Amino acid sequence: MAVPGRRRGRRAGSIAGVNISAGLESETGEVSDTALHGAKLVIAVDGPSGAGKSSASRGAATALGLRYLDTGATYRALTWWLLEHGVDTEDPEAVVAHAREPRIEVGTDPAAPWTRVDGTDVTEAIRTREVTGAVSAVARVPQVRVHLIALQRDIIASSAGIVAEGRDIGTVVAPEAPVKVFLTADGAARAVRRAAQVNWSPDTTRADQDRRDSMDAANSGKAANAIEIDSTALSLDEVVARIVGLAQRVRNG
Ligand code: DC
Repeated sequence: MAVPGRRRGRRAGSIAGVNISAGLESETGEVSDTALHGAKLVIAVDGPSGAGKSSASRGAATALGLRYLDTGATYRALTWWLLEHGVDTEDPEAVVAHAREPRIEVGTDPAAPWTRVDGTDVTEAIRTREVTGAVSAVARVPQVRVHLIALQRDIIASSAGIVAEGRDIGTVVAPEAPVKVFLTADGAARAVRRAAQVNWSPDTTRADQDRRDSMDAANSGKAANAIEIDSTALSLDEVVARIVGLAQRVRNG
């Protein structure tokens, strides 16, 4: 299980027009979490694929000196392992039978997140078309969710403060998070962004997006107290600035 690394050194700077300065170092060079954040800050970022969650979450985590957790990577990592081992990802019983076999680790540095399965770096391998096409079926298996949500909660608990992105962070994984964002964008805009990332045609991407949206819907949700941000007409910096602004309001009480 991943134990996120500790921050080192002083962080100060400005991102998206928001000034950030933090850091009281101990003699060992470790930044004091209490000095940095007061109470632990967890920011939940949920929303459909292609809304820009990853970039916005990483940007906000960097700006705020927090760790970053891509919960989707845990579902992708298990799916990668199942495919590698010839397990039928459409067969829930087979998936359940093997779900606890791989050791899944996720690194939480927003500058360089990584995913490992049994010690093998699969950061790139979990983004292939094959994994993307199979992961929704795996992620909807209830026992898989119980197992991976426990892993995600452990990672969140062992961090001093974190931006966690996914589909059910504000509703299920960390319902106590003091900052919850639901990031959306219209379907066409999401497909265009995703097409650029995955190098598919816009039509293929849109069809795949619609299929995945409907498969993921049962486990996706907007928390009642989440702030919705529609990123359709916003730049990445603008989305990051909004999330940072919400976090600073919480920090400042
Ligand atoms: O965000 P993504 O495309 O990497 O997510 C991969 C899959 O995992 C997708 O089917 C949605 C699912 N998922 C989920 O069910 N719950 C989460 N917290 C994160 C992702």
